[in-house]
Amino acid sequence: MHGKHIVVGVTGGIAAYKSPDLVRRVRERGAEVQVVMTGAAREFVTATTFQAVSGRPVRSDLWDAQAEAAMGHIELARWADAVIVAPASADFLARLAAGMADDLLTTLCLATAAPIAVAPAMNHVMWANAATRANVAVLAARGVQIYGPGEGDQACGESGEGRMLEPLDLAERLQLLLPGEGSLGGRRVLVTAGPTRERIDPVRFISNRSSGKMGFAVAQAAREAGANVVLVAGPVGLPTPAGVRRIDVESAADMLGAVLQELPGTDLFISTAAVADYRPARAAQQKIKKHDERLDLAMERTADVLATVAARSERPFVVGFAAETESVEQNARTKLLKKNLDMIAANEVGHDKAFDSEDNQLIVLTRGARHELGHAGKLTLARGLIALIAQEMAARSGARQRGSALA
Ligand code: CTP
Repeated sequence: MHGKHIVVGVTGGIAAYKSPDLVRRVRERGAEVQVVMTGAAREFVTATTFQAVSGRPVRSDLWDAQAEAAMGHIELARWADAVIVAPASADFLARLAAGMADDLLTTLCLATAAPIAVAPAMNHVMWANAATRANVAVLAARGVQIYGPGEGDQACGESGEGRMLEPLDLAERLQLLLPGEGSLGGRRVLVTAGPTRERIDPVRFISNRSSGKMGFAVAQAAREAGANVVLVAGPVGLPTPAGVRRIDVESAADMLGAVLQELPGTDLFISTAAVADYRPARAAQQKIKKHDERLDLAMERTADVLATVAARSERPFVVGFAAETESVEQNARTKLLKKNLDMIAANEVGHDKAFDSEDNQLIVLTRGARHELGHAGKLTLARGLIALIAQEMAARSGARQRGSALA
């Protein structure tokens, strides 16, 4: 986080007593911190404390002419590389979700292009309230990172979900949120993961055994390498990797729609999802009753998401996965060529391999090269795969630059 500019917003909640420690943790990582307090926050911790730990005067008033003259709130919004609001009270989340600009912190959040993270902290019943749930859903859909809350004893004497995450945990997550300087720094990466569900009737569907773990690991590894990552996920119960924007979908058609919507500006597309190849030709409107001895389901082909992306004239670097039960490498090479991919990662599935397990074994093929990533945990393999992709992308853009220099 060296040299990065972080705005730490503090709103009114008892957890504000932990926020000076967050400021320290962020500064320890080399970042500059500007603290912005709401009026309510000042009821819990003094500005003097934050000034001491941040080394800068605290901002809290939109109408403070002297502070505005030094750095106006719009300048401050531009100055920020990231904004983290910890604790974020129920009131603050509501104001942020409504797009209000009624104090310095909300105005700044509205005016900044930097990523925003919030660490909610409140009584567990307030957190569970439908109004708070709806506000959090709106914020998450807009790309605001929701860190926590955790579960445990609360200041009100009750116990439940609503505790602010610990400052060290928040600082680590924040680090992942910043546009990175890793091998994929500044790149936009789109990943698909998990199975899809194809409806038979309102209560039944056809799906497959994909757990989504490999795809989530790939999204995490890309994020760690500094990329801006969007993860389009089929129905899986996995937590979203820190700093990754997730879009949940159900069917192959939904997945294609989400991918095409997110595609503009994407530098790298990684298709790990086990997309259904066929779906019921007609989903019944009502539950199918068991009238007959036999039921035949007519099926039709779904769109191939990966091949659709790879066939575009303006396309990103495209990486596919091949899940095979036999002739793994040969089938993968055929898919690499047939789907016009830049790279394919092949793994053997079935016979208790790969699906839902914590580890995997990958062979990575490009048109000119072959790499064995061996047998390892899915995150280790994902990091190895991302390193190979970054190398290949760098080599290609180097070759392109040399080509244009010659021309
Ligand atoms: N894929 C996709 N859309 C589909 C089917 C597959 O995007 N409708 C992608 C997968 O995400 C994977 C790659 O295509 O990256 C290969 O998937 P796989 O299931 O191994 O192969 P298929 O193309 O479905 O071919 P087959 O089932 O005949 O092996």
